[in-house]
Amino acid sequence: MSDITLHLGQTLWFEGDPMVLGPQSAIHNTRGAIAVQDGTVLARGSADDVRRAYPRADVEDHDDALILPGFIDAHVHYPQTAMIASWGKRLIDWLNAYTFPEEMRFGDAEYAQDIAGRYLDIALANGTTTMCSYCTIHPESVDAYFTAAAARGMRILGGKTCMDRNAPDGLLDSAQSAYDDSKALLEAWHGQGRASYVITPRFSPTSTPEQLSALGALWADHPDCLMQTHLSEQIDEITWVRGLYPQARDYLDTYEAHGLLGANGLYGHAIHLEPRERDRLREVGAALIHCPTSNTFIGSGLFDMAGLVGEGQRVGLATDTGGGSSFSMLRTMAAAYEVSQLRGVALHPSALLWLATEGSARSLGLADRVGTLAPGAEADFITLDLGSTPAIAQRSTRAADIWEAVFPTIMMGDDRAVSGVWVMGERLG
Ligand code: GUN
Ligand code: ZN
Repeated sequence: MSDITLHLGQTLWFEGDPMVLGPQSAIHNTRGAIAVQDGTVLARGSADDVRRAYPRADVEDHDDALILPGFIDAHVHYPQTAMIASWGKRLIDWLNAYTFPEEMRFGDAEYAQDIAGRYLDIALANGTTTMCSYCTIHPESVDAYFTAAAARGMRILGGKTCMDRNAPDGLLDSAQSAYDDSKALLEAWHGQGRASYVITPRFSPTSTPEQLSALGALWADHPDCLMQTHLSEQIDEITWVRGLYPQARDYLDTYEAHGLLGANGLYGHAIHLEPRERDRLREVGAALIHCPTSNTFIGSGLFDMAGLVGEGQRVGLATDTGGGSSFSMLRTMAAAYEVSQLRGVALHPSALLWLATEGSARSLGLADRVGTLAPGAEADFITLDLGSTPAIAQRSTRAADIWEAVFPTIMMGDDRAVSGVWVMGERLG
């Protein structure tokens, strides 16, 4: 047995951002291959070339399945796994009626462990190999999440959600305890194996200015860490923020004034942005995270993908489970397509696949490691069956090119399309 394994199938990779350069930045091989050694991608190319380069390697032939990097979900709430698809509320009522009661349960370490494992297994079955999650205010929820990911060998990001007002008592910390707990968790987990700690103020309505400042100070001390929060998701929320922060120029300013705006900042939703907010986000090089199934499910609005990318914003894609109505990045790509259509722009399949892989990895500052199958990347990859159901198969057999072949799976596919999942070169699903 060799220590090198070749995976043969259709391959697709990008030589640049197709949202900027167009679909021609994608390289498709109907008979391609990647070579994997010690959990890392060693080479990629046509199957013939890679076989010639490594004649003694083990070979796994996936026929005409499409080999892609594992999907990268740039914004999720794993503690909302068990209450996904809760009916009938908009953001603030949805948080109070469904989300906060569920998140209260995560002070129980055993419950947190149960849900963390359940969430990761569902995500992996859907082809998502890296995610950036909010945990709850309970340190136990963070330990459960990183421990479960480590057991599966996954590259993973997340942090303790901080809130010191406008939530039930059992979910409140304080400026000081948010700082202390976050710092202790960061020191325990950041850079441990494949884990990255993310400083996580939930959003301005559930933090006092003092708590935002404390977390801004923590970020200033750990500038290599990412910081994640929510921004301008619903009109009612924005009105509420205006009342809570009368001095702020706009919603983004509530973060900016407290040291929470920067290139390593991830701003979830970012739908109803003012011109000044767009300018500042672009100037600092922040990442905007598009959560399309959530934005339609909770009734938040239509993210301006074409306009934001066109003006040079960095954008990632995410399920936002469980405000989002799916664990699947395929379903999320479909929703991104539909939302963009409602704004008059048809996103090309190459743009959708980019967003779900390398684009989201870029938004997380990890594009040299995951979301790509470039040599040197970590070997987290999936195979997609492009005819996983009779309905998809009958459509894709008519395809004239890879884009027509893959688009039915993007629009109609689910976990049945994900025929294999590898993490660090090891098959997990
Ligand atoms: N804004 C603040 N918290 C949340 C959350 O848990 N989900 C969504 N979609 N928006 C939020
Ligand atoms: Zn969210």
